[in-house]
Amino acid sequence: MITIKSEREIELMRDAGALTARVLDMLEEEIKPGMTTLRLDELAEQFIRDHNAVPSFLNYVPKGEVGVTPYPATLCVSINEEVVHGVPSAKRIIQDGDIVSVDCGVYKSGYHGDAARTFVMGAVDPEVRLLVERTKECLYLGIAQAVTGNRLHDISAAIEQHARSFGYSVIENMVGHGIGSELHEDPAVPNYGRPHTGVKLRQGMTLAIEPMIALGRSRRAVSKRRAWVAVTEDGKPCSHCEHTIVVRDGEAEILTK
Ligand code: MF3
Ligand code: CO
Repeated sequence: MITIKSEREIELMRDAGALTARVLDMLEEEIKPGMTTLRLDELAEQFIRDHNAVPSFLNYVPKGEVGVTPYPATLCVSINEEVVHGVPSAKRIIQDGDIVSVDCGVYKSGYHGDAARTFVMGAVDPEVRLLVERTKECLYLGIAQAVTGNRLHDISAAIEQHARSFGYSVIENMVGHGIGSELHEDPAVPNYGRPHTGVKLRQGMTLAIEPMIALGRSRRAVSKRRAWVAVTEDGKPCSHCEHTIVVRDGEAEILTK
């Protein structure tokens, strides 16, 4: 069921979204080669708790799945061929030349914010740098479609078309999602699809839009048994970015700017 949020609820989501963005701003300043991904996680958790909020991902259990371990961290930090859900670790040191997707969720006053950015560390291959830039363009082109009068897959199609125009591959088995008092709500927001299809977008729908775009040919992100991290099938790098938005008349409102 897709819920439409009242302006009062959106006000609270603006708060959660703003804090999510501030965590990523802080991490953008701190992140550098030589740092462990666990250190990033500690900084994020402390920052969130200092602002009277709770990390959304910590102890998260995907709905309807049995036997999975609750997510053990505040952030997902996914490097190079890792698409999403990289678990921060004291053993994982960020290297010069890496691209690092940092995904953060914040729960505040009963609502979630969810956002991700991919950071480029030093001497990254120019082709990979372009992938990161264009994935961000995909996100903004998707957001531009999140207006009343359009349908859900207008967002998806805009993302896919831009990615394909460069010969990139769209990860199909990981999707964006509705968001609100739950981290993951209906509808699923795929990063591919046909224009003018899917549910009608309505003012007050809140969505987390998150393109995952890869070099090479991988159409799926795959995980080893019981591992959280999901990687491209061919080991090629993948970029990921995400905003929480509100569908509006005329122009979507970004809550995690
Ligand atoms: N932004 C990701 C998502 O919306 C991160 C979820 S991590 C999890 O799916 F631990 F919460 F699963
Ligand atoms: Co998300």
